[in-house]
Amino acid sequence: MSGEPLQGASEYEIDVSVRGREVWSAWEVRQLQGNDEVDMEQYAIKGGNPLVGEVEIGGAKNAALGVLAAAIMTDEMTVIDNIPDVRDINVLLQAMESIGVIVYRTDRHTVRINASMISGLVVEDDYIKKIRASYYLLGALLGKYKHAEVALPGGCNIGSRKIDLHIKGFKALGASVKIEHGLIIADAQHLRGAHIYLDTVSVGATINIMLAAALAEGKTVIENAAKEPHVVDVANFLNSMGANVKGAGTDVIRVSGVRKLHGSEYPIIPDQIEAGTFMFAAAITKGDVTVKNVIPKHLESMTAKLIEMGCQVEESGDAVRVVASKRLESTHVKTLAYPGFPTDMQPQIAVSLALARGTSIVTESIFDNRFKYVDELAKMGSNIKVEGNTAIIEGVDKFTSANLTAPDLRAGAALVLACLTAEGFSTIDDIKYIGRGYEDFEVKLQSLGAQIEKVSSDKDLQKFKLKVG
Ligand code: EPZ
Repeated sequence: MSGEPLQGASEYEIDVSVRGREVWSAWEVRQLQGNDEVDMEQYAIKGGNPLVGEVEIGGAKNAALGVLAAAIMTDEMTVIDNIPDVRDINVLLQAMESIGVIVYRTDRHTVRINASMISGLVVEDDYIKKIRASYYLLGALLGKYKHAEVALPGGCNIGSRKIDLHIKGFKALGASVKIEHGLIIADAQHLRGAHIYLDTVSVGATINIMLAAALAEGKTVIENAAKEPHVVDVANFLNSMGANVKGAGTDVIRVSGVRKLHGSEYPIIPDQIEAGTFMFAAAITKGDVTVKNVIPKHLESMTAKLIEMGCQVEESGDAVRVVASKRLESTHVKTLAYPGFPTDMQPQIAVSLALARGTSIVTESIFDNRFKYVDELAKMGSNIKVEGNTAIIEGVDKFTSANLTAPDLRAGAALVLACLTAEGFSTIDDIKYIGRGYEDFEVKLQSLGAQIEKVSSDKDLQKFKLKVG
């Protein structure tokens, strides 16, 4: 494994041959070159500053994952713009490349894909077991080649991450599906349209079935479909390649299978969860932050809650401004499928309510283990009691600084928000989880006045303390 970037290549054309495969982004090279170093990385934070300013929101990770998988369903070139440079995306691109998809990253946020020479239908790349979205390759490969073998998905440990609805959908379309040696193996002579009812609203199952159905013979109806913006984005991308998908964004999606899909150039929608995270960062630090390049409609449930909590929120075109001049007010929130309050924003609102005046109740109705951050927050003096899927939050006046560990992607981001409010120095370990879904998280926070740095040694940490004083 050479792992050494070739001299002269531009940062995003680094042609590093690793185990005979190419990797692209400098971020990824850093991962490969210094995994131990990445594991050592911490955030060092000196809290107490209100966040003020403007921040550009990147492309939606959970839309890009479905769109990139769909891109392998055509033999013509596709160009996907506005993808976020985050670990989940880079891992999926590696997995695609491991089965022979040609991927060329023209820059950090744009990738060209040619899937005409796919050499294998078995996706068992070690990386892929660490991200859940690997399973979108199942629907894409099954739709295109009528066969697929993909490692059982990984993903954040936020509760049971079942795939029974995906399998139900593939079987309804005529595929046989079995699990052997850690692989999901799907196989079909033909795929024929079917009427599929999803017992639970599932983003992943909705997208995966939509992918397979796009190239099935006849009509497929997906009832009780997920309505998230990223489901709509994948449907729009499929249609831009010549598919026939109607009703995405409602709970009944109708797919009329087509014989082939053609190339397309497609920009990913803005990330509603990254936007929401910065909106709550403004709220919790009593700041004034404008998130730019967003779709305000996708943020409505978060805007509504921030207003209930006493913030001023102004929407204008593709920007939303959040101003919090006083202590937040308590409220109650229950996570729901879109357009309800998103589960991926549950840790961020709970952490904000932990400093609000009064008692709040947060109910997590989507996943069964998404309160792991509560034990970490207790180290900062929070007062939260978790009973089943409900957190009873007594607001405290302030958090004290502490040394924390990120339990997963969104909880990690929420703990950063908490540390930004605490006087003194805090650290957060295991920030690799945060890198899965946030591009340049600390850089964007610094641009808003946060005193936060990524450090990978005690020396760096001491240097940060001297720097910020
Ligand atoms: C997607 O996960 C997102 N991940 C998650 O975001 C997000 O939290 C979730 O949707 C809900 O919005 C990606 O898009 C890559 P689900 P997914 O299938 O598709 C149950 C983040 O932070 N279920 O909608 O795995 C499941 O157990 C991540 O970016 C079944 O019972 O979520 C859960 O309780 C975290 N059977 C509920 O449905 C199945 O076959 C919703 O899960 C599938 C799911």
